[in-house]
This record gives sequence, structure tokens and C-alpha cells, in this order.
Amino acid sequence: MKEPTSKQLFLHSMTRCMEDDTFIPTFYERLLNASDEVRAKFRFTDFDKQNAMLRRSLLLCAEATAGRTEALREVNERATTHDRDHLNIEPHLYAVWTDTLIATASDFDLQWNADVEAAWRKILGHVVQQMIRRY
Ligand code: HEM
Repeated sequence: MKEPTSKQLFLHSMTRCMEDDTFIPTFYERLLNASDEVRAKFRFTDFDKQNAMLRRSLLLCAEATAGRTEALREVNERATTHDRDHLNIEPHLYAVWTDTLIATASDFDLQWNADVEAAWRKILGHVVQQMIRRY
């Protein structure tokens, strides 16, 4: 049997996490508690909208890492909104974001294992690198 790709492992794991409506709110609660600096960035955020946004962002990461042109274009747009002249998301904040997301996913996905974690790290890491490069 063919090994699943990172994209398949990631999307299936993400789907399992999202079956629980508390997954995304739990992630944001943990992210905001990570530091005052993170909390300050989200001080004007409407979290009802942000929850749907995160879901879209994760799908975007999967498509961009698979090399889909449309997704790569959108990552560039997101890199601009997050750069030093706009939201000013400093590079070190991406590590907090990634680690918090992966720790939360590992708590929610009952089938979590080393291969699944490697898939999350690969897919998020690819997009995070692009965002940081354009900071
Ligand atoms: C690969 C990583 C990320 C992706 C794909 C992503 C994606 C997005 C998207 C799609 C939006 C809404 C549209 C926009 O303003 O561009 C957004 C908004 C935002 N993001 Fe990110 N983001 C990422 C990482 C981060 C990190 C690391 C932080 C800070 C710790 C952050 C903080 C914010 C804030 C503060 C907003 C504005 C929320 C509001 O409307 O108040 N993002 N992000």
C-alpha cells in the first residue's frame, strides 16, 4: 500500500481536530496566554471571524506546500499583511504560533503519532518560512 503524503496526513489530522468545535478556540486561548506580546497583537480581533480564518489558513498551508499556484499567491498576500509595515508579526512569533498549534493538535487528534507531527511541521514550516522571508 502506498504511504500517505504529508498533505494527506495533515488534512486528515486537521479534520479530526476540527470535529471538536473547541479545537480552534482552545488554540487561540493557548496562543494568547503564550505572552503579552502575542496578546497585544490580537487586541482588536473578533475571534468569531478569526476561527473561520484559521481553518482557511490551514487549508491554504496544505495547498501552498503542495505547490498550488493560487495558494502560493495568497501566501504572498498574507506575508504582506503580516510584514513589518502592516501587522508587524515578528519572525520569532511564528515559532510560538507553530508550537502552540502543534501542541493543541496533538491533544485533540486521537490518532496523533510521529508521522502526523512531521506532516504538520513540514506543511506549516514551509509557509512560515515564506512569511518570515518576506517580513
Ligand atoms: C503561516 C502562518 C499564518 C497564516 C497563514 C496567517 C493567516 C492570517 C489570515 C488569513 C489573516 C486574515 C487576513 C489578513 O489580515 O491577512 C490573519 C490575520 C491576523 N494574523 Fe495571521 N497568519 C499566520 C501567522 C500569524 C502569527 C504567527 C501571528 C501572531 C502571533 C498572526 C497574527 C495575526 C493577527 C493579529 C491578525 C489580524 C487579526 C484581526 O483581524 O484582528 N498571524 N492571519
